[in-house]
Amino acid sequence: MAERLTTIRRAVPGDAAALAELGARTFRDAFEADNTPEDMALYLGSSYGPDLQSAELRNPGIVTLLAECESQLAGYSQLRAGPAPVCVGRPGPIELWRFYVERAWQGRGVAQRLMEATIEAAAARGAGTIWLSVWERNDRAQAFYRKTGFEDRGEREFILGNDRQTDRVMALELGEPDVPPRG
Ligand SMILES: CC(C)(COP(=O)(O)OP(=O)(O)OC[C@H]1O[C@@H](n2cnc3c(N)ncnc32)[C@H](O)[C@@H]1OP(=O)(O)O)[C@@H](O)C(=O)NCCC(=O)NCCS
Repeated sequence: MAERLTTIRRAVPGDAAALAELGARTFRDAFEADNTPEDMALYLGSSYGPDLQSAELRNPGIVTLLAECESQLAGYSQLRAGPAPVCVGRPGPIELWRFYVERAWQGRGVAQRLMEATIEAAAARGAGTIWLSVWERNDRAQAFYRKTGFEDRGEREFILGNDRQTDRVMALELGEPDVPPRG
């Protein structure tokens, strides 16, 4: 397993260009086979680019963690403060906004290490619940989240380009928040 070779660190503004490239590439790898090129291009263009990721890395409401294996970026996660869907239904929610591992590192324990660090980062911000939304057709990610302890809580709409899709909403309870989440 690669988990012993994996290091996790907090991203800094200087990582913006690499994060933009990693974000676009891992999104494309995960979803281009099941979506039209037009919808993919619209979504990628509005979601990834050095300026967009630079703004995210400077946003105090967003925590970005990078997983590195053999000195290469192998994945990333982003937590985002903000309102949760009603079906999450617990105090102190924080959103696991993005969670992506490079294809070459999938199934090798990197995702587990990244999730452990992400849960620690959420708890350190005082969150009581981590929630996420995942495409209803993304069986692998749902299987991963379930084995990590997330439970299905409901559904919500997700727009990819011009395509209306259905996401499952999943949540993991961390316990009662000690302090209100920042941001
Ligand atoms: C989601 C992701 C981070 C999980 O990391 P991973 O290293 O692949 O996770 P694991 O291999 O530890 O776990 C995946 C589980 O799904 C199972 N699985 C694999 N392919 C599957 C499939 N096609 N359908 C259903 N389950 C599948 C695996 O067997 C494994 O379960 P197991 O350990 O009990 O056998 C990674 O696959 C990824 O980055 N995917 C692309 C991006 C993505 O979808 N991100 C989530 C967006 S919400």
